[in-house]
Amino acid sequence: MEKTKILLVDDQPDQLIILKHALQASDRILFEATSGPKALDLIRKHTFALVVMDVMMPEMNGFETFAAMQQIESGQKTPVMFLTADQTDEAMARSYELGAADCLHKPVTLPILQSKVQVFIDVFRQKKQLELANWELKATQAQLIQSAKLASLGEMATGIAHELNQPLMVINLNAELGLDDLQEGLDTNVKESLETIVAQVRRASRVINHLKAFGRDNTKSEYQPEDVNQIILDSFILIRERLKLRNIRLEEHLAATLPLVSCKAVQIEQVLANILLNAMDALEERDEKIIRVRSFQEGNWVNVEIEDNGVGIPQVIQNRIFDPFFTTKEVGRGTGLGLSVSYGIVQEHSGCLLVHSEPGKGTNFIIKLPLEHV
Ligand SMILES: Nc1ncnc2c1ncn2[C@@H]1O[C@H](COP(=O)(O)OP(=O)(O)OP(=O)(O)O)[C@@H](O)[C@H]1O
Ligand SMILES: [Mg+2]
Repeated sequence: MEKTKILLVDDQPDQLIILKHALQASDRILFEATSGPKALDLIRKHTFALVVMDVMMPEMNGFETFAAMQQIESGQKTPVMFLTADQTDEAMARSYELGAADCLHKPVTLPILQSKVQVFIDVFRQKKQLELANWELKATQAQLIQSAKLASLGEMATGIAHELNQPLMVINLNAELGLDDLQEGLDTNVKESLETIVAQVRRASRVINHLKAFGRDNTKSEYQPEDVNQIILDSFILIRERLKLRNIRLEEHLAATLPLVSCKAVQIEQVLANILLNAMDALEERDEKIIRVRSFQEGNWVNVEIEDNGVGIPQVIQNRIFDPFFTTKEVGRGTGLGLSVSYGIVQEHSGCLLVHSEPGKGTNFIIKLPLEHV
């Protein structure tokens, strides 16, 4: 285990010797400073679990040193225990008013000092462990978001292949037409064929570029002001062909103008993709298949509503669909992560993900994103 650092500050060397002797332990490193400025130098370089500091010191007293510590980032977070020779209650009160974590009268009763210092060390270590666990949890969540996204990309693969095949076929056709014209000595239509080819190449690269952007691990990306309508249109790029193949009608009712929303665009697109893929699955058995996507502003929120006229969600499972790994799909078809990851993403955006479903009639999801992201 890493050793815990404690800083002892006193202008009198014999006092430092007493403190050091009392607080020594194999799992601690004790630093010493004989003045406020020297203590500040050390605080700039190290993270201490605790600073034990004499109040009365020439040059810069303990209170002044404490005030200067607040200007240093690592210093702000470090608890300070004052040792004061002033026996009045006011001296104690003053220390606590300033923000000291503790205050002891001098001469200190060593067992009291020792046990208090131990408490600070325990708290410091627990806090560090908690920070580490939190960090690990964040990293796992990021991994989960990325793997769920790759899984949904896999699901969209057939649609994407079709989306790319389409321009390739047109390119092929126009190249052949152009060649025939040239062979016959005609060049009237060649320009038109070449123009079509260029347009189709652009279409295909747009799909590929978008695919690359969507697949990239951007869990660490920054929030940016984004046009939610554009995110919706982007989410259709990878899905539109698949809808066509399944005879699903996509109705778009996008607000004419929307204020920009601070968000991570690819993550919001991931949420949309998850909800659209679910809607698609829910429509499988239907004769008339419709997905309606609406965007609109409502007060301080930008809302995206995705509605399908599919099988609906039975009442008894409506409060379980956001649970990780909850799925009603066959093994191999659904991981049950789509909605739980989506919920996490929307929550991190300080938004809400709502569902309303009437079994047998259809389902309605609403993604609400706040205009002022806090
Ligand atoms: N639009 C919908 N209509 C009907 N049921 C739905 C709809 N959306 C979600 N569900 C239900 O919620 C469950 C959980 O959805 P979720 O997206 O989290 O997982 P999944 O689709 O089963 O698997 P995957 O991880 O591949 O997305 C689904 O299995 C389904 O039962
Ligand atoms: Mg799903």
